[in-house]
Amino acid sequence: MDAGPQQNDSFADALKPGTELLHGQFRIEKFLNAGGFGMTYLARDSLDRIVVIKECFPSSMCCRQKGNVMARSRQHQAEFDAVVKHFGAEARRLSKLQHPNIVGIHQVFEDNMTAYMALDFVRGRDLLDTIEDPKMKLHPRDVKGILLKCLEAVHYIHTNDVLHRDISPDNILIDGKGNPVLIDFGAAKEEATRASRALSALHVVKDGYSPHEFYIAGSVQDVSSDLYSLGATFYHVLTGEAPPDSQARVSAIAGDRPDPYRPVTGKFPQFEDAFLAAIDKALSVFPPDRLQSAREWIELIDTERRRSAALAQAELDRQIELSISRLVKETNQAVEADIKIQQAKQAAERKEAQRLQKLVQEQQRQRKKTLDELAMLDDFEFGEEQKRARDHSAQQSANQAHDQVNGTKRKKRSLLSRVLPFGILRGTLRGNRRSDYL
Ligand SMILES: Nc1ncnc2c1ncn2[C@@H]1O[C@H](COP(=O)(O)OP(=O)(O)OP(=O)(O)O)[C@@H](O)[C@H]1O
Ligand SMILES: [Mg+2]
Repeated sequence: MDAGPQQNDSFADALKPGTELLHGQFRIEKFLNAGGFGMTYLARDSLDRIVVIKECFPSSMCCRQKGNVMARSRQHQAEFDAVVKHFGAEARRLSKLQHPNIVGIHQVFEDNMTAYMALDFVRGRDLLDTIEDPKMKLHPRDVKGILLKCLEAVHYIHTNDVLHRDISPDNILIDGKGNPVLIDFGAAKEEATRASRALSALHVVKDGYSPHEFYIAGSVQDVSSDLYSLGATFYHVLTGEAPPDSQARVSAIAGDRPDPYRPVTGKFPQFEDAFLAAIDKALSVFPPDRLQSAREWIELIDTERRRSAALAQAELDRQIELSISRLVKETNQAVEADIKIQQAKQAAERKEAQRLQKLVQEQQRQRKKTLDELAMLDDFEFGEEQKRARDHSAQQSANQAHDQVNGTKRKKRSLLSRVLPFGILRGTLRGNRRSDYL
């Protein structure tokens, strides 16, 4: 199916090709489908890209008049307004989701007195078409690949506190590369049925795909409800038909009759038992018996991913080990370098201390030498002084002696002169011991 499985150009209330929306930003090309809550069209945006437009059109309470969508009667007005409000709010909420396996919503707007959303156009066909086409034979590897990608998408929406509420083969588009894309989120419809008595008659359930809690107004719906629908979708892929509807199963169990559901485990040898057992578990009637998260399902069936996760973990461990040993090595090197720096610093300090010590010793030696020299000089001067003093006293003594000699001489001479004539005396003394007299 190329974006138009139930094309019905004759649907009277559908917008006609060429109709412009949002002041010409979108131009309708083709009507695609009409569900209980809205109409789907192919359109072009202002950049001439092909998009899908979903129009809020709960046909049981509205009709189109001169392009505008109006409540069918005054009694329907408030409910219609509430549905339009829910549609816009839910579209805005969903527009925040971004995942390769979830259809992208790139605009939410109001026009023609109702709400619209513009979606990415997914070129391909839906899963229902694919499995019903006898020429299309999905390889078990493709089935597993599609399921794993759907589980990734479901895990993503659940972690963002969103339930799809309408997972079924016709709400999974398969693009040109074989990737599944989830469309047609059912939360707005659920809200709308709660807000409107007129819509409460509309089934927001799909027999075979909806878990039994979807049939009970106000019952708890959780992650396991979406997983039930996904299990039913892949049950259909394997067996060629949807599982028995959940209400029939509940009443069989309540009436003590066997569950009409036929497990797939062990029936398809081309699939691993773990893969088949997970589908059976997801399809348990009572929520506590089901798989509790998309992640749990992924881990049960993805042997390849488990293997590569184990390898990735081993590689991570190896990398961590390498990082740790590198860190230890670097730390050791840093410590060693630090020690070397410290040692070099200490050696330099020691050398400097030795140099200073030598300097001090040299200074002391110099000082001592200077002092010695000074002492010697002192001694010398003292000696000189003493010598001078001795000389002086010797001189004085000599002088005194001289004076004495002279005195004696004089005395002698006077004595001699008294006893001898002067000429004889001198001649005699010259020839003998002259110095004794001079
Ligand atoms: N993004 C898309 N790209 C391509 N085709 C799409 C896209 N969205 C919807 N379609 C086509 O339009 C059909 C109807 O769309 P969708 O499932 O959203 O609404 P519905 O089931 O008809 O209506 P309701 O919302 O009332 O349940 C799909 O089966 C698909 O063929
Ligand atoms: Mg749909």
